[in-house]
Amino acid sequence: MIKSGKTLAMKIHMISALIAAAALAGCGEEKQAAAAAPEPADNAAEAQPTNTAAAAEEPISLADEGRRRFAACAVCHSVNEGEPARVGPNLFGIVGRTAGTNEDFAYSKAMAEAGIVWTEENLDAFIENPQNFMRGNRMAYVGERKPENRAAMIAYLKTLTSATD
Ligand code: HEC
Repeated sequence: MIKSGKTLAMKIHMISALIAAAALAGCGEEKQAAAAAPEPADNAAEAQPTNTAAAAEEPISLADEGRRRFAACAVCHSVNEGEPARVGPNLFGIVGRTAGTNEDFAYSKAMAEAGIVWTEENLDAFIENPQNFMRGNRMAYVGERKPENRAAMIAYLKTLTSATD
């Protein structure tokens, strides 16, 4: 697991660019423009849709901050209800669910047999260091060291439920 900071930074950069391109591609009409002229990741991160005038005045909520940080996860995880799995399972409704129980995903033995519930505490420990928390799981993510960044991501994960839940 030893990687040079540079390699990791480059990967994150590439991943961000991929996500930005995927997000744009999702907008149908903008697909061609996105393919023709991909935005550099840094600019793309700032170029989120700004359809409300109030956006500039309101402080960014923790969940919004988490959605931004989830870019590091979105390359492997879809989040909308019924969306197919990517490298990892779909995370809709993950908070409060038992680990390894999404029927559309072939989990590792470690995850399938963990028998834990994804409480906020467990998510926090898992995101901090996946291998430390659950030895043998297959999630290839280095971990997020900063507690405030993990808290933001968990706040975002909590929003991934249907309104009627
Ligand atoms: C490189 C791809 C990859 C990245 C990046 C990644 N994951 Fe995962 N994730 C996986 C895989 C694969 C699994 C299933 C692991 C297994 O079966 O052992 C998984 C499993 C999970 C689970 C358990 C799901 C369940 O149904 O029990 C959660 C929660 C999760 N990831 C959250 C995250 C979060 C949050 C991030 C970003 C901080 C993230 N992942 C980043 C690939 C990834």
